[in-house]
Amino acid sequence: MSERRIAGADRVDGEVTVPGDKSISHRALILGALIRGRSYVGNVSPAADVAATARVLQDCGGSVRPFGDGRVSLDGAGAGVSLRSPARPLDCANSGTTMRLMAGVLAAHEAVATLTGDASLQRRPMERVAVPLRAMGAQLRTDDGHAPLLVQGTATPQGLEHHLEVASAQVKSAILLAGLSAQGTTVVHEPVPTRDHTERLLRACGADLSADGESITLRPARLDPFGLRVPGDISCAAFFMALAAARIGSTVRCPGVGLNPGRTGILEVLEEMGARVEVEEGPPAAEVEPQGTVIVTAAPLHGVTVEPAMVPRCIDELPAIAVVATQAEGRTQFRGAGELRHKETDRIAALVAGLRSLGVAAEETADGLVIDGPAQLRPARLDAAGDHRLAMAWAIAAALTDPSAGDCVIVGADTVAVSYPGFFDDLGALTTESR
Ligand code: S3P
Repeated sequence: MSERRIAGADRVDGEVTVPGDKSISHRALILGALIRGRSYVGNVSPAADVAATARVLQDCGGSVRPFGDGRVSLDGAGAGVSLRSPARPLDCANSGTTMRLMAGVLAAHEAVATLTGDASLQRRPMERVAVPLRAMGAQLRTDDGHAPLLVQGTATPQGLEHHLEVASAQVKSAILLAGLSAQGTTVVHEPVPTRDHTERLLRACGADLSADGESITLRPARLDPFGLRVPGDISCAAFFMALAAARIGSTVRCPGVGLNPGRTGILEVLEEMGARVEVEEGPPAAEVEPQGTVIVTAAPLHGVTVEPAMVPRCIDELPAIAVVATQAEGRTQFRGAGELRHKETDRIAALVAGLRSLGVAAEETADGLVIDGPAQLRPARLDAAGDHRLAMAWAIAAALTDPSAGDCVIVGADTVAVSYPGFFDDLGALTTESR
């Protein structure tokens, strides 16, 4: 298991250009491989998760051709007819997005496939995606609700009206992807709005798709190939923004970051805690996704309550916000965040355990956690628990310890490659490690 020692930072100051957005990259590869004609995507995320999507598409006969520098060209034959049964099980590795979105794609192809993944992915809930796809006409079998997920798709999927039980952009996207070649209309109702990357890209390709903030309605239409430069990943930038917010005297500038409203909750929460957050909006990526430069500067922080409606807008950033909360005066509470228990690990339990070993007063609740700050973080041995976002959260917590107090050790630090292979290099450039 990889270990990495990180000391308290002497400074946190500078600019970080983060890699392309992981969520958008998955969708761009999938849609490019489906839509008839040639699409181009630039600045594709180097995440291992995105590589899993590319490999799974290729294993199903999809034409996904990287040609250097994060650029990929894709050729599809049309929704519902681009892919065929793979010769072997489809390895989604650690990627829930790959498994759930590809379940939707394959459900609408005349194909039989088994989607599998690593031990962590095999513990995550899959019935939430299997149930609506069965109602659209595909056959899906889970192993007691989990992967391996056997999909026997149909060439004639039926439109569906579905109410999501949990707010999930992955499940919503799986249904919409299956709905692209369905007979009739597909409607998805969301309990709380989630990231709408799939809807935006579909609309840019000419889909007949409308959304009113509560439901999305899709009618089959001919789709056009597209060109897209993926904006920077705000979920990667979040760790540096959090570090800058939490350490007095710090500032960080992140240019070219995606600013999809379903993802910008971190900016609002940091601002509410007292940090200075400036956003300079830039040109949208091919008019599909908003993006711009974000500058975060430290200021005295106070605890906040992150309410359930905010949670989907910063779900992947909650570990970073939890670390910021350790430096805030008073109580920070996450409510309605039970989904954290179903991520790459149980992030509620893992965060509380790690924060306590850093000397923080933290408590689990059924659907969230409570952190009382401020705390002087002390060096500790921190387990990433096979979870990339925990590894990065522990790295910024380590950077917040006293530089003269000794190192933190992050166990399983290499897992950052799941979303951000260059994370430790970028962290190093932003901070001066004392040894
Ligand atoms: C994602 C949606 C979220 C998020 C995940 C990526 C996506 O998951 O946590 O990292 O790309 O659609 P859920 O849809 O399960 O909430």
